[in-house]
Amino acid sequence: MQINVVTRLPASADNACLLVFLFADGRLKGAARRIDKNSGGTIRSLFASGDFSGKKAETLMLHALPGAPTARVLLIGMGQRKQNHAQQWREACRAACKSLVSTPSSLAISDCLSAVSIDGLSACDMAGQLVTELVNANYVFTLHSRVDEPRQSRLMQVSLTVEGKQVEAVNLAVRRGLSTGLGMCTARDLGNLAPNICTPGYLAERAVTLASEHDNLTTTIVTEDEMEELGMGALLAVARGSRQPASLIVMNHQGRKRAGKPIVLVGKGITFDTGGISIKPSEGMDEMKYDMCGAAAVFGVIQAVSTLQLPLNVIGIVAAAENMPDGNATRPGDVVNTLSGQSVEILNTDAEGRLALCDALTYAERFKPDTVIDMATLTGACIVALGHVASAVMGNDQPTVDALINAGEASGDRCWSLPLWDDYQTQLDSNFADMANIGGRPAGSITAACFLSRFARQFKWAHLDIAGTAWISGEGKGATGRPVPLLMQYLFDYQD
Ligand code: BES
Ligand code: MN
Ligand code: ZN
Repeated sequence: MQINVVTRLPASADNACLLVFLFADGRLKGAARRIDKNSGGTIRSLFASGDFSGKKAETLMLHALPGAPTARVLLIGMGQRKQNHAQQWREACRAACKSLVSTPSSLAISDCLSAVSIDGLSACDMAGQLVTELVNANYVFTLHSRVDEPRQSRLMQVSLTVEGKQVEAVNLAVRRGLSTGLGMCTARDLGNLAPNICTPGYLAERAVTLASEHDNLTTTIVTEDEMEELGMGALLAVARGSRQPASLIVMNHQGRKRAGKPIVLVGKGITFDTGGISIKPSEGMDEMKYDMCGAAAVFGVIQAVSTLQLPLNVIGIVAAAENMPDGNATRPGDVVNTLSGQSVEILNTDAEGRLALCDALTYAERFKPDTVIDMATLTGACIVALGHVASAVMGNDQPTVDALINAGEASGDRCWSLPLWDDYQTQLDSNFADMANIGGRPAGSITAACFLSRFARQFKWAHLDIAGTAWISGEGKGATGRPVPLLMQYLFDYQD
């Protein structure tokens, strides 16, 4: 998709659609006002008749409007002024994009950036979000479809009009928004891929390919033999029941010289989670192909970071394995030694994510990180606590947790914190090892994070539980690309 930042609307653009964002108070500014005037008060009369009220996410497509520069004009409701800004804008963008990609338009033009002002949201924020939403609205999963039946949307080009002095800054925001959107598409593709294709080995290959496509990006693969040598007993225990060997994938983006200590992103990459010997019920088990969405987000972020050549050192680590039942699989009651030296009694083989992650966290120590952020579809309990709206965030460093909450608010990809108090740690007590891998039913998301915290004592660390946000079920089943926008915003804030 090609995106142009311009200072004036094109005089005429045949196959285009003009996006006009309107608040519920009906006040018209910029392009909206001009179009209304040229068409003899059409927009005003739509408000008066109630055919369009400007309520949140409402859309109305107008065709062949007299005096309009484009074949189509799409009115998009923004709701009341002074509501939750970033969220309000994101919802309006999403509604606009949904309507837009169902038309034959190849070009979308938006005058929103000078005409609509939302408190606390700059033209840059708005442009970035709009572009991210457009890229996602254009996304179609085609990797399992016949190549001669492209289902791509026709939207090829976007023009954003802004004031002259904003062009440079908005251009940067557009580049960021585009890379974020494309990072999300990569994460969605990886998540949506069938689990017989998307194996740990496949993820490793993708990482090698990604490194070959970008300067400043290198990939290292730690094989099972090497894990054995290193003593990664926890990650290996997860993969024991699978024919697919585990893989620890390290992607290293070197920003410009003296970019500082790295930020390490760690992703849970369970390419399929049957539960192992503690097997899951069969209903809906297909969705456990999404148990590598943390890893998928790491791929998406590393891709975006390399494309943008961010002047930061960012390292992505993916702990990839498949959790299967088998004669050779880990049993409930098995005790394993982790890379950290701590032993773990595996009481439930379905609590495998923390086993894979704990060795990856210890491995991260060697990079002397400034901050480590892990992301994982870790607990069903997280969906009970926060639903599909927010990811859970917990950590050992309040500023990092706060930075993630703020980045979530700004990007519309929100997270909310749960308490990681020491009081919960005793739930992991084991009679036979340094700790158990489960903490019972109460506070399941917190005890999972407590487990991880024992492997993150050497650095500032935060954990994102994305079990409720990384994919949606039902009719629109599919990966969402979250938390790529959250992490990109975090990195932009960290850098600026
Ligand atoms: N991948 C699951 C968590 C999950 C479940 C994510 C449902 C999304 C939807 C994880 O490996 C798991 O099985 N967790 C267990 C932990 C329990 C055994 C302590 C869970 O949440 O039930
Ligand atoms: Mn599990
Ligand atoms: Zn899992």
